[in-house]
Amino acid sequence: MKTQNENVELGEVLRADFPIFTQSEYGKSLVYLDNAATSHKPQQVIDVLVEYYQTKNANVHRGVHHLSDESTLAWERARHTISDFFGAADDELIMVRNTTEAINGIAYGWADHNLKSGDVILVSLLEHHSNLVVWQKVAERTGATLDYIELEEDGSIAVEQVQRSLDKHGKLVKLISLAHVSNALGSVVPIADIAKLARSSSPQVRISVDGAQAAPHIPVNFKALGIDFYAFSGHKMLGPMGSGGLLVRKELLQSGEMQPWFFGGGMIGEVSRTGATFHDDPVERFTAGTPDVASAVGLAAACTYMNQFGMQTLQEHDADLVSYSLEKLSEIPAVTIVGPKTNRVGSVTFLYSGIHSHDVAQILDSQNIAVRSGHHCTMPLHVEHNWVATTRASFQLYNSRSDIDALAVGLDKVAKVFGA
Ligand code: ALA
Repeated sequence: MKTQNENVELGEVLRADFPIFTQSEYGKSLVYLDNAATSHKPQQVIDVLVEYYQTKNANVHRGVHHLSDESTLAWERARHTISDFFGAADDELIMVRNTTEAINGIAYGWADHNLKSGDVILVSLLEHHSNLVVWQKVAERTGATLDYIELEEDGSIAVEQVQRSLDKHGKLVKLISLAHVSNALGSVVPIADIAKLARSSSPQVRISVDGAQAAPHIPVNFKALGIDFYAFSGHKMLGPMGSGGLLVRKELLQSGEMQPWFFGGGMIGEVSRTGATFHDDPVERFTAGTPDVASAVGLAAACTYMNQFGMQTLQEHDADLVSYSLEKLSEIPAVTIVGPKTNRVGSVTFLYSGIHSHDVAQILDSQNIAVRSGHHCTMPLHVEHNWVATTRASFQLYNSRSDIDALAVGLDKVAKVFGA
């Protein structure tokens, strides 16, 4: 994706906003291709964190003093910006630390109260461990069965396979929990189509989506997806570490189908020696203890930063980086790309013939190129394909084709070092 007036890529222009790129190591500037693990933060996000602590820092909804009022206002404004970014209402957003905490919230707050022996939870082999182990534990606690929607050969999910799983289990399917974009293969899962299909056969089925790898790259509209839960991590989308959210369809919060899973100050109505009632306001009910206001403010600044370009533009930029990487890496004989060649978002993952991915990553690091190696928290997927480990290059808006050129040169060096 080129900027309008110059023949310069968007990523090259935006890099100036990210102070991390002023550092160099081994005499080389940083080529950061580990964005699916976490992204860097623009100065605009760093500044609001500092400003919050310098000028506002106070607990929310508790103090009768002006700093507390200002902090409360900052918290509420941030929550509004974040929910708006996702096409959700303010009272559908529960702030949490990350996607993992959000998915655990669905498990303890919804699944434990609504699933029973014989019910079926559908997932796929694409799932990150946080969207898998959580459901294994729910199955143990409730007696529900965990089953897998089959993947296509290239690691994508076809709606027809979802239909097969629905036909197999019928109305016993109570929850479908899928990644929106696979962290290991970049496959985009057709969530809206799956939700429509599942609801047409069973209106009561609940649909939960792990949006950790989608939210940083593609426009997400919670309402339009037609789902019940959407989990995301702020730190992968230019926001601070420890910021994230769980979107829950309003009706589930209002009806009490989703219940609080953290208890303590701020979320109560009345407390007696023997028990407690909980706050009437659904959002307050799900915010136990002092919230991380600064991180919410920082994440809101990240949303505002991305909104200046529009997620459509950022999606096109990502698509350009993905297709350019697929093209460049396919030219390297030792490299085998895994995962889909089209409809892929955020990353490119590959095997390097005869060389372990940790060695590949280490040689790349010696050239100041950061990638991730290993099983990427998707062990069952790797075992299924007999991949001991893979190497993943993942992108953000500050990456450009030149980073991928550097990766290709770096991979050439891997061959030279190992005599491959
Ligand atoms: N889930 C993050 C990744 O895929 C950590 O790298």
